[in-house]
Parts: sequence; C-alpha cells; structure tokens
Amino acid sequence: MIEISSNQKIRGVVRVPGDKSISHRGLILGALADGESVLKNLGTSHDVVSTLSMLKQLGCEISRNGRQITLQGRGSRGFIEPAKPLFCGNSGTSARLMAGVLAGQPIFTVLTGDHSLVRRPMSRVVEPLIKMGADIRGRQNHSRLPLAISGGNLKAVEHKLSIASAQVKTALLLAGLRTSGTTVVTEPAQSRDHTERLFQWLHLPFQKEGLTCRISSAGIPAFSLTIPGDFSSAAYFLALGAIHPDAKIEIQNVNLNPTRTGFLSILQAMGAKIQVETVAHTPEPVGHIRVETSALKNLHVPESFIPNLIDELPLLAVAATQAEGTLVVHNASELRVKESDRIHTIVTELRKMGAAVREFSDGFEVTGPTKLKEARVKTYGDHRIAMSLAVAALMAEGTTQLLGDRWVQISYPAFFEDLFRVTEDTG
Ligand code: S3P
Repeated sequence: MIEISSNQKIRGVVRVPGDKSISHRGLILGALADGESVLKNLGTSHDVVSTLSMLKQLGCEISRNGRQITLQGRGSRGFIEPAKPLFCGNSGTSARLMAGVLAGQPIFTVLTGDHSLVRRPMSRVVEPLIKMGADIRGRQNHSRLPLAISGGNLKAVEHKLSIASAQVKTALLLAGLRTSGTTVVTEPAQSRDHTERLFQWLHLPFQKEGLTCRISSAGIPAFSLTIPGDFSSAAYFLALGAIHPDAKIEIQNVNLNPTRTGFLSILQAMGAKIQVETVAHTPEPVGHIRVETSALKNLHVPESFIPNLIDELPLLAVAATQAEGTLVVHNASELRVKESDRIHTIVTELRKMGAAVREFSDGFEVTGPTKLKEARVKTYGDHRIAMSLAVAALMAEGTTQLLGDRWVQISYPAFFEDLFRVTEDTG
C-alpha cells in the first residue's frame, strides 16, 4: 500500500523506460536471428523479463550490461525443447507472440501464466494458428492457458482478423516466417505497427498495403536496436502535466509512433498545451514532449482512435474528471479482457473518489470537472489501473491509500520514484 497526497507544484524532466511492446519484439527477433544481436535501453518491466526468461529456457544465451542486452540468436529453428512449462507471468504479449513463434518450432512446449493471464482469451491466436496447421491444445476448448504446443510445419493462410489486435497480428506474422508460401493478415483497423516497422527495417520479405500485411518464410539477420522510451509510460506524466494547476514537465526520448500516440492527439483535441520535438525517425519516430497546465474540455472519443489509445483509456477517464463537460468512450469492449476488466475497475475506483462516471458495456462516460476526494482504492493487480489512480490521487483532497501499488512493476518498476521526483516540493 502507498499513500499519496496532492502537492502544489509539478516540475521536472522524466525519462521513461524502454518501450515494452518493442522490447518484447526485439528480444524475440534477436533470439530467432542468425548471430549476435544487441538491444539498447531494453524495457525494465516484469513483462519484458518474462519474455527474456522464456527465451533463455528455449536455449538462447542472453547477457546483460546495464540496460544493454546481447543475445546469441539460435536461428530460425534452433530453439531447444524446455523441460518445464514456460511462464509468461502477467504478460499477454509474451503468451500470444510466443504462441506464434512456438507453433513453427519442431519442439513441444507448454505456455502458462499468473492468475490474471490464465483467465484471458487465447482463442484469438490459437484458432488462426490451428488453421495454419499448428497442434495446440489448451484449457476450455483451447481458449485459455496453459497451452500445449507441438510445433512443426505450418502452411501459409490468409487471415482476416475480427479485432484490431497487434498481439494477434504479430503472432501470425511471426508464424508466417516459418511457412512455405505467403501468410496474409488483414486487420479491421490499424493496431500498433512495431512488428511491421521492424520487419521492414530488417529487410524481411514483408509488404504492407493498407490494413493488409504479407510475409514469406525468411531468416532474420542479426541487428543492433536502440529502444525508445515507452509512450504508454510517458502518458501518466502527460496527463498529470495537463490537469495539475501548476505543472510543467518534459518527457525525453519517447516513442512517437502514431499508432501509439492516440492519447496525445486526444489530449491536444481537449485543449492540452503540448509541444512535441521529433529527434529520430527510423525504425520508430522518437522525440521529447513538453506539457504544462491546461484548461481541458471533454469530448466524444472517435471510434478510429480507440486502438491507438487502448492502454491509456483508464488514464483518459482520470484526466476527464478534471475537464469541463462529458467525455464519452464507446467501442472499447477490449478493455474488459485486459489485465483487469478495465471499464469496471476504473469506473468503480474513480467513483469512490467522487468522480461522476457511468459504465457502458463497451466503454464509459465521465463528467467533469470534479474535485476528487481521498479514498482507499484498489488496483485489481493491474499496472495501468495502479498508475492511473496514482495520478487521480495527486489531484485529490487529502491522502489516498492505493492498495496493490507494487503492480506498477509489470510495465514501469520506477514509476513511483519518477512520480515523486516531479512532485517534490521545489519551493
Ligand atoms: C500490445 C498490444 C495491445 C496492448 C498491449 C501490448 C503489443 O494488446 O494492449 O498492452 O505489444 O502488441 P492487443 O494486441 O490485444 O490489443
């Protein structure tokens, strides 16, 4: 449990950890590459450590020097059969991406996870992999972990996804690297495109046209990749900077991939004073973001933005409590199958703090501005709920008790240190 009280002034420069999504992909591609790859500024999150540990169990030699990781790639079919189940912890990305990889490896593996992950849907990835010829069994008619995978030869298939999911798209593209023929994946809306960017950067036989990706069988060359700061971690400071009455914050070296920065665009549309300076472009745009106290107006979030701010929607609910008017979010039922049911958990906890919130089956509504009040709030074992409520607590009267604060480790272990640094009384 941690206690959080509001403070008068927010000032400082923040450097957030390496992007979690890119870290997972970098580790997996490095493990499958031919030769030695280097990842700089690898994410510090427990989810990334889950992927790293699984790859070690599969025989990949990985050494660490601070934030720099060196991997001895095992080549496209070089994983060894692990004697024990592979534990994905809390990480849906580890489970789904590795299901795609392991379906094409000639070994037997079992994937499992923690109490939250074993409840999350896996059929979205298992069903299309079975269509490619994979032998995968799991609990509840192959829809839940643990999954037992007898990998082998896959065939190229054309997939039309019914949900915009970067995890599913990536799993199928990784499986597609092991098929003869061309695997085609079409998504209903653009989800985060880190995998596509990395495939292009590595010159793999990959094409993208609109929402359709095509990949053919290929080996992966060794590479050296610097991972930019995680926009989803930066978002908590962006929100705090915009809603706090006396704030000025700079967040440095953040990934500015437009398929991730929907939250920034929505905050700007709400009237946030944000400046963005781009400093690098390939394989991902990177830059510095400056934010200061702003007068925000709520709005209806357009459906097309939802995939690009899916992880930031609970935080947007917090920001909306401090903005004029009503924020409306629909078409976001995916939130119900994240680390917690994020529609229910954020609405329930913000209501305890006095927010005017309504829950819908596929979203929520928040009317502001409201002076939030101290409460004893829970994180439901969900890192993004924990960090969103910490921002809410800084805007509340009195002292809020946040139970389960340790869950921030899933994506941002130093979150509270960084947060308390910008909230330190600077006089
Ligand atoms: C992720 C994709 C998103 C996101 C998750 C990370 C990824 O999930 O919510 O935190 O790295 O591909 P979905 O693909 O299920 O939408």
